[in-house]
Amino acid sequence: MQDHESDLVPKYLGLVSRRDFLKFCTLAAASMGLPLGMGAKIAAAVANLKRPPVIWLSGQECTGCTESLLRSTHPTVETLILDLISLDYHETLSTPSGDLAEAARKKSIEENKGKFILVVDGSIPMKDGGIYCQIGGKPVLEILRETAPLAMAVINIGSCASWGGIPSATPNPTGAVSTAEALGGKVTMINIPGCPPNPYNFLSTVLYVLTVKKLPELDDKGRPKFAYRRLIHEGCERRAHFDAGRFALKFGDEGHLRGWCLYKLGCKGPETFNNCPEQLFGDVGPRSWPVGTGCPCFGCSEKGVGFTKPIPEQASLQYFTPGGVPLEKADGKVRVGGGELRLTPPTAFAPIEAPEGHGASAVAVGIAAGLAGVAVGAAAVTALKLGKEKSDPGAETKKD
Ligand code: SF4
Ligand code: SF4
Ligand code: F3S
Repeated sequence: MQDHESDLVPKYLGLVSRRDFLKFCTLAAASMGLPLGMGAKIAAAVANLKRPPVIWLSGQECTGCTESLLRSTHPTVETLILDLISLDYHETLSTPSGDLAEAARKKSIEENKGKFILVVDGSIPMKDGGIYCQIGGKPVLEILRETAPLAMAVINIGSCASWGGIPSATPNPTGAVSTAEALGGKVTMINIPGCPPNPYNFLSTVLYVLTVKKLPELDDKGRPKFAYRRLIHEGCERRAHFDAGRFALKFGDEGHLRGWCLYKLGCKGPETFNNCPEQLFGDVGPRSWPVGTGCPCFGCSEKGVGFTKPIPEQASLQYFTPGGVPLEKADGKVRVGGGELRLTPPTAFAPIEAPEGHGASAVAVGIAAGLAGVAVGAAAVTALKLGKEKSDPGAETKKD
């Protein structure tokens, strides 16, 4: 490593240890499909940055996106976020309120034109001039249109901001749309859909933008390919049961209790792109994602699936032949998200015989992902390792 480690750690870093920070950057690089050496570069770039100002605008939302990001059970994500950025305006978290908060927003935008990151959660109501969501007496639609063109980057967090989410579900009484639709496609942006999305996908995207100074490679729905390139179904630990035709038919039946495939209970994994099986949630170890806990994926991150298709409806298998082989299109390639869909080996094999509470190890997940030519599993390792060490008092007290 060419720089001394201490030079790679932001001076302002608070509760996160140097060791955790460097490890996080290395694994974040891997999760984004970057060479491992990029971890040190990300750490160095972030360490030398002035904390970038962030304006966080909320439209029609439930605060779930903020809660999942900043109130995670594991302190690393929220601490890293709050240490790495200067959150100049956030309606829920800002200390000032009312006129003072609005003045802080305007001041930050004025002083940081072209340098701040605009984060949007919630959908934007368009009906009746946008009167159904107002901040300081002004429709959020107007505030968004004034603010977005001045930002360095726009990141939509959650399905509401990315494609309309719950508020846009039929009958959509407020005319709710995504940030992109509200802006008429005039501003380039990154979508991190999910309801709520995985905080690591948001954090990795912020690190990428800060380090590389450009947007990560996006699919045709504006999502970072490093997180949304694979179908849930491709990495699901129940996939072996799907292939073998073993399905739960009712909640609580024998198949459900034995961990069989949830397809016939309406699981939308075969038509939803996200890294949930690899990234997991809450840093509590294996199976900590919807399907892992016995709940079918309802396609929360997929436009046209989540909040659109009835929950019990069986998922389309449009991306596969009945034998599980990708469907060939006229040009000989299946194009999903602007890329070529290929069936890749799962990042872990179904823990059919594993005793309760013992799924695939983090290392096995990471190695399998690497062998498959993708690094998505490394993000899961980030979550699992950080979570494990935080819960291991011995690891906490070790010196770097
Ligand atoms: Fe809430 Fe989901 Fe919308 Fe986020 S995407 S604001 S969690 S409804
Ligand atoms: Fe997993 Fe759902 Fe696919 Fe079954 S249908 S393998 S539960 S993602
Ligand atoms: Fe959402 Fe399905 Fe993942 S419901 S959180 S995309 S498993």
